[in-house]
Amino acid sequence: MQCRLLLVCIVLNQEWTVLPTAQILKWRTTGCALNQKGVRVILFDISSPAHAIPEGIEFIHGDIRHLSDIEKAFQDVDVACVFHIASYGMSGREQLNRNLIEEVNVAGTDNILQACRRRGVPRLVYTSTFNVIFGGQVIRNGDESLPYLPLHLHPDHYSRTKSVAEKKVLEANGTALERSDGVLRTCALRSAGIYGPGEQRHLPRIVSYIEKGLFKFVYGDPKSLVEFVHVDNLVQAHILASVALKADKGHIASGQPYFISDGRPVNNFEFFRPLVEGLGYKFPSIRLPLTLIYYFAFLTETAHFILGQLYNFQPFLTRTEVYKTGVTHYFSLEKAKKELGYEAQPFDLQEAVEWFKAHGHGRSPGRRDSECLVWDGLLVVLLVIAVLAWLPPSVILSV
Ligand SMILES: *[C@@H]1O[C@H](CO)[C@@H](O)[C@H](O)[C@H]1NC(C)=O
Repeated sequence: MQCRLLLVCIVLNQEWTVLPTAQILKWRTTGCALNQKGVRVILFDISSPAHAIPEGIEFIHGDIRHLSDIEKAFQDVDVACVFHIASYGMSGREQLNRNLIEEVNVAGTDNILQACRRRGVPRLVYTSTFNVIFGGQVIRNGDESLPYLPLHLHPDHYSRTKSVAEKKVLEANGTALERSDGVLRTCALRSAGIYGPGEQRHLPRIVSYIEKGLFKFVYGDPKSLVEFVHVDNLVQAHILASVALKADKGHIASGQPYFISDGRPVNNFEFFRPLVEGLGYKFPSIRLPLTLIYYFAFLTETAHFILGQLYNFQPFLTRTEVYKTGVTHYFSLEKAKKELGYEAQPFDLQEAVEWFKAHGHGRSPGRRDSECLVWDGLLVVLLVIAVLAWLPPSVILSV
């Protein structure tokens, strides 16, 4: 039987690609290594990949907001497994577009589930996020028994919609397929912050801040710990999850969520130190309180909400980002290890440093451009405003 694996992903504004070409190739190779001879991979996406697609991977252009597009991709084939990695609105200015976030993350997921049932697709792996559980509370070595963060406590729309979608996916586990007497089996992988070569969302933004001289301070407790996941580890987890939904593994993953990370809790800023120093910049020595930065993020978000319609600038930081970077939260990999056989491989940022250097980034020693001074000044002004707004009125009045 010719079976096909279908990857569904969405790229809007070129800001999101979790699976660069090399990873897809690796995915496919691993798929074959898993003794699925004749496995075919279809990449379903809203815009064509930036790089040439490796041989054996088919690209189908489409939008998950349209059920007919998805059904077209499923036409006349036996799709063995769908990897639903599409999402929108995680960071930056995308966050303003609440309608699009809702349409892609929630309605898009509904469409995928419906297409799977109609077309008799037996397995679905959903890419979720730590954020469905975490909303600023300290979590040490949490596991999958933790409850979802109540929806009204999510400070951002992205996390809220990812949570709604994850529940829909897991609830769809066990529902009947229309074309056979089988059932749909689903699982969700709750990913930590993703990094790796070709990752187009977080690292380029961080590098641009470093280059603009905006990375002048760190914040929060130096002992606070968060987690990241290298894209290769995340891909490995997806493959293992798809296998663990099969009969020969006793369908062990069906209906289950799993936390996935590198398994190496680390201070957020220490994690980025090799990137900063590797590109020739100085690691900041100033440390600011978390509550101040949180307030600053709140002001930025408010400004963005009001002014974003006129000028859609990239907000410097959001409240969710402040939590994600400054409040301890890490999760146990026990369940993923035991049930999926997941083993995180060690990676660091060296590869990313090389990538950025090869793409014309990095500072030549001794350079000091005037742009930095302007940014410094602007940053100081913004911080002063934040401090004034943050202090209780009585303090300001008595000054
Ligand atoms: C998922 O569905 C399968 C098949 O109906 C069922 O055996 C399994 O218990 C379900 N998983 C959960 C967590 O409900």
